Amino acid sequence: MDSLDECIDRLVQVIDAKIGEKFAVIDFAELATFFTLDVITERGYGKTFGYLSSQTDLYHYIKVIENSVAFMTLASNWPRLRSLVSKSLEWPIARTFIYKLCGLEELVRAVDQQVENEFSDLPSQNTVRSPEKATMLQLFKEKGMTKEQAKVEALFLLTAGSHSTATAIRMIMLHVITSPHIMGRLRQELHKNSEGCEYLNACVKEGLRIFPPFPGLLMKERISKTKASNSDKRDVDSKVQDVNSNIRNLPLGVEIGYNIVGVQRNPKIFENPEVFDPDRWLISDPGKHHEMDAALNLVFGQRGSWGCLGQKMAFQEISQVLLEVMFDLCKFMNCMLTRDLAAIQTL
Ligand code: HEM
Repeated sequence: MDSLDECIDRLVQVIDAKIGEKFAVIDFAELATFFTLDVITERGYGKTFGYLSSQTDLYHYIKVIENSVAFMTLASNWPRLRSLVSKSLEWPIARTFIYKLCGLEELVRAVDQQVENEFSDLPSQNTVRSPEKATMLQLFKEKGMTKEQAKVEALFLLTAGSHSTATAIRMIMLHVITSPHIMGRLRQELHKNSEGCEYLNACVKEGLRIFPPFPGLLMKERISKTKASNSDKRDVDSKVQDVNSNIRNLPLGVEIGYNIVGVQRNPKIFENPEVFDPDRWLISDPGKHHEMDAALNLVFGQRGSWGCLGQKMAFQEISQVLLEVMFDLCKFMNCMLTRDLAAIQTL
């Protein structure tokens, strides 16, 4: 069974156990984060950290992220602050100090341990997997990353791949269950078990549009090819040209960012942008589709070497979890309806 399926099964079991026979209040926001943390630790390191099974904020990760979201958003939108933070993170001593200050020490130790295991020469530490099931750590090693580079990337993966996807899942779920006509159509589609789940895909896209999980400006500096190859080997000039050839005329040093919420709420691209309307994604005009898709893709960053490496994985995770959780909730709703009807009939 696929690791994603296993995590979804665990999530559904947790929900079922909580609902049981009676009404229950479920903190789905927390469960969604536990779920994405389990998926990313399984796919990233080969073993889940066990967030869903323990239902505990292990290593205080969620608390730290929630406490620092305001600062991170400020830093990502304020170039000077952002460059101060990113410059500090380049220095190991400063990095250790920042992790300590944020309360991330325990988590960093746990992630470092995974990397140590992967890079150790003890055969018992490394499970051999087929290439398509290789963990991200195995791929890092295979592609020649050093242990220290892998430690930085492994920690980054956890942040990049958990909170973002959990926010998307929560927001899409919130919009769907608070719109009875949308929930009804989704239930119909699920019950027909139609191939492709067109309406579900439309709900996912619409949820990412109306509430982009990462609202930062994602500023990128235009630097010369020489500086690019000296710093991070990204051919910045040509990547920027990918997006818009006019950008080549900008002076070096200029930072370019975009207002992602503004793009997704632009009425020239999305009619009635404030309305959660999955139907807008079901139109048959290919030109309009292309325009909307291009705008939506910006939720995952710019194309080229800056884009999100987990976009495909995020779509798969979000769609599959919505499908299974909705199906599960519908089962309970049907059950409650049947019980209510039975109760009415006995009157
Ligand atoms: C709905 C979910 C997600 C959203 C909205 C999202 C959004 C983004 C954005 C906007 C960036 C670009 C940052 C920049 O321009 O500097 C990015 C980068 C990245 N994302 Fe995601 N992401 C999501 C899920 C994931 C997942 C599941 C993974 C796990 C593999 C992931 C891994 C990454 C990585 C590794 C990068 C850095 C790429 C690089 O610059 O080298 N993301 N993401």
